[in-house]
Amino acid sequence: MSAAPAAFAALFAPWTLRSVTIPNRVWMAPMCQYSAEAFGPNAGVADDWHFAHYAARATGGTGLIIQEATAVSPEGRISPYDLGIWNDTQVEALRRITSFLKARGTVPGIQIAHAGRKASTDRTWKGGGPVGPEAHGWQPLAPSSLAFSEGHPVPHELTVDGIHEIAGQFAAAAERALAAGYEVVEIHGAHGYLIGEFLSPHSNRRTDAYGGSFANRTRFALEVVDAVRAVWPEELPLFFRISATDWLEEDGWTADETVRFAQLLSAHGVDLLDVSTGGLAPHVTIPVGPGYQVPFAARVKAETALPVAAVGLITEPEQAEKILANGEADAVLLGRELLRDPYWARRAAAELGAEIPAPAPYHRSW
Ligand SMILES: Cc1cc2nc3c(=O)[nH]c(=O)nc-3n(C[C@H](O)[C@H](O)[C@H](O)COP(=O)(O)O)c2cc1C
Repeated sequence: MSAAPAAFAALFAPWTLRSVTIPNRVWMAPMCQYSAEAFGPNAGVADDWHFAHYAARATGGTGLIIQEATAVSPEGRISPYDLGIWNDTQVEALRRITSFLKARGTVPGIQIAHAGRKASTDRTWKGGGPVGPEAHGWQPLAPSSLAFSEGHPVPHELTVDGIHEIAGQFAAAAERALAAGYEVVEIHGAHGYLIGEFLSPHSNRRTDAYGGSFANRTRFALEVVDAVRAVWPEELPLFFRISATDWLEEDGWTADETVRFAQLLSAHGVDLLDVSTGGLAPHVTIPVGPGYQVPFAARVKAETALPVAAVGLITEPEQAEKILANGEADAVLLGRELLRDPYWARRAAAELGAEIPAPAPYHRSW
């Protein structure tokens, strides 16, 4: 007698983007570990912590892991302890992670990032405040010399040459990501880091070609996308993470602008928009609750041809399944829930009656 066929679950439908097949729609959101060495020859180099952390989520059946914000330059780190991808030692260490993920059938992705004016801060569990040179900090770079908040340093305003240099650093990071074995690159345009600072009129007060109008504020982001797409192979997908709104009543980036920008990103070769919100300005009110950012992803999906991933307080299998079944998103990203439970994908499959391959040595437990 054969077992009953597994129920269909949208969460466990594979998906091919360009030439990469992602085995399911349970994806891990990028989450900084702030656990690399801050200086010296191993600065920004992944170690055993990073390996074990990502290996566990792959063993748990996660379809795609988007590795934490990994800095394209030393000044682009959020904290001195961030992972980096600006040298070959870093690439070597990352290769160990990507090969394990691939062996487990999980697609390895990486978020490449520049922290802009929110750079040079301490680890979140140490308060996350700004750190100076005595604690391996530096002066941050930004579109305009406006501090993130009281107590944060005034950033150095980038010159046009400086802007071009950073677009080049993103491209070099993408080339290194390829060498390290990643199959998806995500450009970090969210949460008020450098790219988001250019997008938002709240942080971008430039009067040159990179500030003012929508076309000018999106120019840097599109230059980064073009620079990355030029070196990232045609057959591999490129994602962009955005904050769909700054949650500001005045002078913020808006959901309408996100929809307009999504169309441009699609035309420039981006394959999926990862839709988050916030992070640009402190002291804003955010209506946090289960799935609170999903409507922003759903709107982009409904109004453009660009696929989307939803993120933010998605914690329950039924909830995640509904988001996909309702056509609100093409995939879900889980952050903190995957920190609590690396086996979430297996648990969800069991709850939804779907079957996913288990690691053979664990066969007696599933
Ligand atoms: C510890 C931690 C680190 C994070 N680091 C990043 C990051 O590197 N890049 C990023 O885009 N978002 C980062 N985020 C945001 C998450 O990717 C995610 O969008 C957020 O936690 C909401 O999803 P959740 O409710 O499932 O946790 C981080 C969140 C946490 C909790």
